[in-house]
Amino acid sequence: MALPPEDLRDKIAPSILSADFARLGEEIRAIEKAGADMIHFDVMDGHFVPNLSIGIPVLESVRKVTRLPLDAHLMISEPARYVEAFVKAGANSISVHCEVCPDIPAMAKRIHDLGARASIGINPETDADRVLPFADQLDMILVMSVHPGFGGQEFIPAALDKLRYIRRELKRRGLSIDVEIDGGVKLDNIAEVKAAGANVFVSGSGIFGKPDYSKIVGEMRELIAQTPAKI
Ligand code: DX5
Ligand code: ZN
Repeated sequence: MALPPEDLRDKIAPSILSADFARLGEEIRAIEKAGADMIHFDVMDGHFVPNLSIGIPVLESVRKVTRLPLDAHLMISEPARYVEAFVKAGANSISVHCEVCPDIPAMAKRIHDLGARASIGINPETDADRVLPFADQLDMILVMSVHPGFGGQEFIPAALDKLRYIRRELKRRGLSIDVEIDGGVKLDNIAEVKAAGANVFVSGSGIFGKPDYSKIVGEMRELIAQTPAKI
């Protein structure tokens, strides 16, 4: 599902995992006002990852307070059981991990049939070649740059080589899909991940840990706008 080239723009996707959940509505309005392009929504089941987070009822509530696209990142062992509920609750794109997705084409079709964008996530230890053969059926590939499960971890530098490899392979095959980077992305490394080929930038603690969301989102946007992809 290659996007028309004009849609393949850089997008900043704050991860609300690092937001103040007691004030989630306000946090989302603030991040929208700050210029976020989409909201990254991390779902953890305590099984695929060693942590629990938020799920369908919270996504439904978030849907009511923003018009921004909701980017649901399912870090769960049995995604097939839940994709429909997440799309019905208002998710615009669904990322399912390849490590728990035995049939990527069937999953992509299922997500598309439900009316959402289909994405496949890749953990740091997983080879990108598990997903690349199916890239023509996807809207996005999500590259994890931390071991999933927790916000606030250090960026794993090997993710840069994986990004370059993925973007080169996509280019070679004439595919212009989104490549999302997730984990440890902050103002001090966002230019490097842009240069390596990412165009969707998830940042949790790098944004919600700051006092002024407009300032940090603006600074990130400026850096990614100034940095060409070097692939
Ligand atoms: C990690 C999640 C990330 C996380 C990113 O398992 O998938 O989306 O919230 O948070 P930071 O930017 O703090 O690493
Ligand atoms: Zn995530």
